[in-house]
Amino acid sequence: MNDDPRSWYLDPRAAAAARAADLTDLRKQVDEMLDAMIAKFYAEIPYADHQARGDEINMAYYKRHNIETILRLRRKRTIDALAIGYFTKRDPVRGASWAHYVEDEMLHDEWFAGDLGRVGLTKDEIYATEPFQATKLLTGYLQYGMEFEGTPLALLCSVYFVEYTTTKTQPSWVRNLEEKLGRDKLAGARRHVGTDIADEHADFVWGVLTSLVASGADEAKVLDHMKIVANLWVAYFLELYQAVVAPATSSFEAAGTLAGRFA
Ligand SMILES: [Fe+2]
Ligand SMILES: [Fe+2]
Repeated sequence: MNDDPRSWYLDPRAAAAARAADLTDLRKQVDEMLDAMIAKFYAEIPYADHQARGDEINMAYYKRHNIETILRLRRKRTIDALAIGYFTKRDPVRGASWAHYVEDEMLHDEWFAGDLGRVGLTKDEIYATEPFQATKLLTGYLQYGMEFEGTPLALLCSVYFVEYTTTKTQPSWVRNLEEKLGRDKLAGARRHVGTDIADEHADFVWGVLTSLVASGADEAKVLDHMKIVANLWVAYFLELYQAVVAPATSSFEAAGTLAGRFA
């Protein structure tokens, strides 16, 4: 990472051009890792394919998953703002790009809240819910990167992780849920996955992510962040499962959801 304050206020276009590494090989490695993680997730995590393939949708599970999505998005936008602050000093061209993307993403929680309204949940009920521990830790991990590593790389890795896995998983989840619950109930989720795919969000995020990678050590860090983010997502899905489907049968099992090394 090139982070010399003496370079912060030079020409913005030159700063952007200096941060444009070709990381095609790294992206291939990341994408293959994420594909393998998705397969492992479906194979090993209880209920992982419930929304993609379940016949009778467990509504408590479906509702809590969407509530948690909303609570996560409402906090994630705060970290996005920290990332914009980082770019304003070092790479204003990328700052403008990220601000544009964040403007697009900022209120997507409303789309999921609209879907929950169609299955009987009020906004008051959604916003009165305390986020899961795993949601707090995922948000906290992104903020940790800003505070203690001095870069939004963890955030960018997490956003790439979500945009990439969304295009690989959400079309089948939304299709099955539309079949089982009715098309009108999934209007927000359908619109959301449509935006991610049509606007090629994963490609865009990868472009911004590469601007933060300047060495082999940074490339290794990208792989580390992806694994930690995967572990936190698995901890989330296990916490969700234990909260609404089947409680942990021992404190060891419950603790394992947080200490676990899925990736
Ligand atoms: Fe979104
Ligand atoms: Fe997106």
